[in-house]
Amino acid sequence: MTQDELKQAVARAAIEYVPSGEIIGVGTGSTANFFIDELGKIKDRIKGAVASSEATAARLKSHGIPVFDLNDVDSMSVYIDGADEIDPKGAMIKGGGAALTREKIVASVANKFVCIADGSKLVDVLGAFPLPVEVIPMAQAAVARKLKTFGGEPRLRMKDGQPLLTDNGCMILDVVGLKITDPAGLEAQINNIPGVVTVGLFAQRGADVGLLGTAEGVK
Ligand code: A5P
Repeated sequence: MTQDELKQAVARAAIEYVPSGEIIGVGTGSTANFFIDELGKIKDRIKGAVASSEATAARLKSHGIPVFDLNDVDSMSVYIDGADEIDPKGAMIKGGGAALTREKIVASVANKFVCIADGSKLVDVLGAFPLPVEVIPMAQAAVARKLKTFGGEPRLRMKDGQPLLTDNGCMILDVVGLKITDPAGLEAQINNIPGVVTVGLFAQRGADVGLLGTAEGVK
């Protein structure tokens, strides 16, 4: 099976976690996109969704799924999203698609985080995937200096020759070379750096359910 077929398989399996008649949280990225396509097939069963990015909102709307503002939603049973890496305890690196801040916000309102990923995302120790950190633009250099003290090498994410700007108008530093043995501790430390909006470590609140697409089926 190709990686896309594995992502499609977990996206289909995640439909089982969609509660009828409710508003659910929806993540960002290629796996989340496959999930949105599956959700489109059962859209009459749900009330709608809260999107974790402008791209996700557009894809939900293209399927005729009502998109709600998070400020109008008090609670959600479930948030469904992909990950760049996930460890056996459910701690994740996210943000390869630059949507980490809204993903963390929407996930924080949901009772259950269902992570959908192809099996290659499961790792023993997080950090081979560069750790995204969203920063206020004026603090980018100062935050990068602080991040170096954790042993990694921060690189400003670029797009078309310019610093990439997130949906929030902020920049992303991708930290390469980390071996993250204490994900929750590092999440707290990086969150504490002035100028950091969000670190793409989801460990203090990790995945409650992990669905992994493998050649032997969804595990
Ligand atoms: C988006 O910002 C990310 O957190 C994605 O969830 C993550 O990058 C996984 O993306 P894919 O599903 O495209 O691998």
